[in-house]
Amino acid sequence: MNRLIIVSNRLPFALDSAGTDLWTVTPAVGGLVSAVEPVLRERGGTWIGWPGIAGKIPQGPLAEATRDAGYNVVPVALSETERDEFYYGYSNEVIWPLFHDLQNFCNFEPAYWPAYKQVNERYADAIIRNAQPDDFIWVHDYHLMYVAQALRERSTSRNRLALTFFLHIPFPPYDIFAKLPQQRRLLHALLQFDLLGFQTRRDVRNFLQCVRRVMPGTKVLSRGDTHVIRFEKRKIRIGHFPIGIDFDSFENGAKSEAVTQRSQRLRASFPDCQLMLGSDRLDYSKGIPERLRAFRDALERYPEMRSRVVLIQIVVPSRVEIPRYHEFKGRIDRLVGDINGRFSTSTWVPVQYHFRGLDREDLLAHYRACDIAFLTPLKDGMNLVAKEYCACRTDEDGALILSQFAGAAEQLKPDALLVNPYDVEQMADTIVKAFRMSPAERTVRMKRMRRMVRKENVFWWVDSFLKAGATLGGRSSRAFEKRRGSATLQSVKA
Ligand code: F6P
Repeated sequence: MNRLIIVSNRLPFALDSAGTDLWTVTPAVGGLVSAVEPVLRERGGTWIGWPGIAGKIPQGPLAEATRDAGYNVVPVALSETERDEFYYGYSNEVIWPLFHDLQNFCNFEPAYWPAYKQVNERYADAIIRNAQPDDFIWVHDYHLMYVAQALRERSTSRNRLALTFFLHIPFPPYDIFAKLPQQRRLLHALLQFDLLGFQTRRDVRNFLQCVRRVMPGTKVLSRGDTHVIRFEKRKIRIGHFPIGIDFDSFENGAKSEAVTQRSQRLRASFPDCQLMLGSDRLDYSKGIPERLRAFRDALERYPEMRSRVVLIQIVVPSRVEIPRYHEFKGRIDRLVGDINGRFSTSTWVPVQYHFRGLDREDLLAHYRACDIAFLTPLKDGMNLVAKEYCACRTDEDGALILSQFAGAAEQLKPDALLVNPYDVEQMADTIVKAFRMSPAERTVRMKRMRRMVRKENVFWWVDSFLKAGATLGGRSSRAFEKRRGSATLQSVKA
């Protein structure tokens, strides 16, 4: 089997200084890490990425953090300026908001683009140093869209490697993408990959529309879900590959004795109440204020809900150094305070709010114990929390309220209750619908969702992507025959 080389901004853990010569290692949060980690654990390979600290990387703590990984880890160092301009800057103040249709949140600071290119070039150098001709190079996500171009600009034999890319976040429609000052340069860079994977058909459609509009004359050949772009005498394949989760690992974890006990304890703390769960990274794209406003509206308009429903909202700290994220936390805090101040009684507090990540057992216990999952991103590449919730509902109970703008809606839509996160009243009505839904209907819906999440799991995702890439550059499709194992998932956060 060819070696798999994963290249992403994040390694699956972050190092942090806790004083002179003292370091902490924490699992990284986010969909990318939680999906890719079990795959590399199962198949082995190399992961090239950044360990989350600016400046020199301490070798001892790094060796400690990667000792039992089961794959090689190649760290890429960023200076403080690069962290600020590449990671916080271009990646998270330009691409992230723009690709989530929130162009008003963008800071199109010109200095960010050279930093983005410079760091992508460093990743290209790391690939050149570590890859062999037969390796499968798989670059991930919006931080590294320039890597293939940087590799091709380096005139070594390595630039004949087949290069593949997967975008974990959405790709915006043309009218939004057109705001990006570097729109042409970015598309040109993306077209240096040989295979481009997106989460959904919607993202593929948007991408192709942008190519047609920004680069007129570029040939796009489409047949059904297969698309090929002819560009600079090369063929680039485009496809959608909805990312999944390690279903078995979630299901088995949820059935364990420890999780069963924790979920029973959780349930017992809220007698006579239905529990509704929201779980997100701290991010303005997740629709948390909209969700809280919908819950407030439901409590106002439907008094039967009072003392009968509790919303457990978990917010995992993320990118707090970016001012907008910090301000956003203030908004959530105020809304939670407002709802609890207005509706609490001596025996009932409507919103249970945790601003921290839960450990794995606790998270699984929450999935098992909560009657309703309420996930309302304004836009989301996939939203793996929705899939994790289904995988953990081993009792086949539980209702899922899901934003129609989450990638997962494309797969779960017949059975999830889809909502428009901008429509607070519709969301409030949907909470009530979920609250009143009969156990029989919940089971029918949950069974079907579980079937889908089980089938289109993370190994299915990786196999379909590798198969699509298997024939690039004359590769043999046998090179990526499946190897199943007992993958374990260590860091799970949405
Ligand atoms: O899944 C989307 C994603 O942006 C990942 O690429 C990223 O690793 C994760 O969310 C968490 O964000 P960050 O790496 O900025 O902490």
